[in-house]
Amino acid sequence: MTLYLLPSGEKTWAEELAKKVGFSLCSVDEEPNETEVHLVLSDKGLFLSNETLSYQGDFSALLPRAREYRIGGELLVKAAKPKSFASPRLFDATAGLGEDSFLLAAAGFYVTLCEQNPVIYALLADAMKRGREDERLAPILSRMTPIFGDSIPLLQKACGAYDVVYLDPMFPMRQKSGLIKKKFQLLQLLERPEENGEGMLSAALAAKPKKILVKRPKNVPALGGKAPSYTVSGDVIRYDCIVL
Ligand SMILES: C[S@@+](CC[C@H](N)C(=O)[O-])C[C@H]1O[C@@H](n2cnc3c(N)ncnc32)[C@H](O)[C@@H]1O
Repeated sequence: MTLYLLPSGEKTWAEELAKKVGFSLCSVDEEPNETEVHLVLSDKGLFLSNETLSYQGDFSALLPRAREYRIGGELLVKAAKPKSFASPRLFDATAGLGEDSFLLAAAGFYVTLCEQNPVIYALLADAMKRGREDERLAPILSRMTPIFGDSIPLLQKACGAYDVVYLDPMFPMRQKSGLIKKKFQLLQLLERPEENGEGMLSAALAAKPKKILVKRPKNVPALGGKAPSYTVSGDVIRYDCIVL
């Protein structure tokens, strides 16, 4: 993947990011006329684009849900919240664009979030960088530490380091393409490594947290066939909670 850097984009940050995730960096005077999906950095941040669509991560859209009086009502927070400890440490093994991690951090979790896809990690890192300059988002983002890489070896070495491990492996989308949000239309065009949900569950068990939380579509079997201790269900999805 090429990262196109416009003159207004921050060069040092672009160089660091490109090096970290293995992109080639190309300085350009204007946005290239590319049909393939590509990344462009300007003073407005990093965009994933093709000829018709453009998308960037934006945590501010989650602020209404993150308000103090609402956050406790989020299904994810209800499922994750431990009863007995104040500053829980959570490892999000499938960070994606960090939206679930953001809600968990808003609820008081200290979240380490790991993403293995370089493009998705780049969008996440950019949304976090811009968000830290927003005083409404900064306190929440200060509880989030992003990592680029495969979460499985990290979990295998994490013995006891986290209270909760959160797994949200991708599941096939059934919506008609016209109904899929712009973000998913673009992300579907990316080449993604095969996801190993069962491997992640074994690694999560090896990390010996107090709880493992697995997000699943409502009507599919439990990940790895492992029966949860209990389930918190919504209309479309559920959280399987394995208490250890
Ligand atoms: C369904 S998305 C997660 C969405 C996320 N919960 C959110 O709120 O944005 C699953 C993500 O997990 C990542 N992933 C899958 N296996 C992984 C692994 N072993 N290590 C790190 N990331 C992984 C995928 O690249 C994908 O971005």
